[in-house]
Amino acid sequence: MLLDKLKRLGGRHWWSVWRLRLRPPPGLFQPVGDTRDDRYPVLFRMVHDCIGDGPDRALLSFGCSTGAEIWSLRRHFATARLRGLDINATSIALAEAERRRRGDDDVSFATAASAVAEPADRFDAVFAMAVFRDGRLGGAPERCDRYLRFAAFERTVTTLANSVRPGGLLLIRHANFRFEDTPAAAAFTCVLRQPYRQRTPVYGRDDHRLSGVDDEGVVFRKHADRV
Ligand SMILES: C[S@@+](CC[C@H](N)C(=O)[O-])C[C@H]1O[C@@H](n2cnc3c(N)ncnc32)[C@H](O)[C@@H]1O
Repeated sequence: MLLDKLKRLGGRHWWSVWRLRLRPPPGLFQPVGDTRDDRYPVLFRMVHDCIGDGPDRALLSFGCSTGAEIWSLRRHFATARLRGLDINATSIALAEAERRRRGDDDVSFATAASAVAEPADRFDAVFAMAVFRDGRLGGAPERCDRYLRFAAFERTVTTLANSVRPGGLLLIRHANFRFEDTPAAAAFTCVLRQPYRQRTPVYGRDDHRLSGVDDEGVVFRKHADRV
């Protein structure tokens, strides 16, 4: 009874984030599902200019939370196929309810902690926005491994890199790690860097804080297959 009252007070999604915090599933990065409409308009427009729209285009929002990123992308990409993944099953249930309400059959959602189940070279653009971070690192402790580990970032981001088609784009924003520090980055060229906007300390392969890093690689283009 008390639990029901508390659930009503906080809301279903709020409680699901607390469950993630209390019992972190393997592969969890940022547990908080904060998101909003058209959060990255410049990046969405840039991706549209690079890859165009069309029913043969496919985009992945990794860490899509309750789906705001997908519906923002839908405004920029009227006919592309859009897929949203999130580790939080409640977020995905809420996103899927909104998809049904809109009747958009070219959008799909799934609960997942990585893109390992997605086909290789599938997506024209993959977004991992505000996922590879943890707000509890905002005070910039010397080490990050109490909350996040570079090894987990490397494993997960490698599954994302594999799912990008040659010539396609990988976008990573507000991360506590650098994609450039992983071997998967050798198949990509960074085409856009942006300054950090949130308090985001950056950690290296050994989970120690790096100094003097004030911008991040945000847009990476996968090298086209050589003929
Ligand atoms: C701050 S929200 C970002 C939402 C959206 N991308 C944005 O920028 O507005 C972070 C999301 O990442 C999700 N997340 C954390 N670790 C994940 C993982 N390993 N796989 C998939 N989603 C994850 C969380 O559940 C949460 O919904």
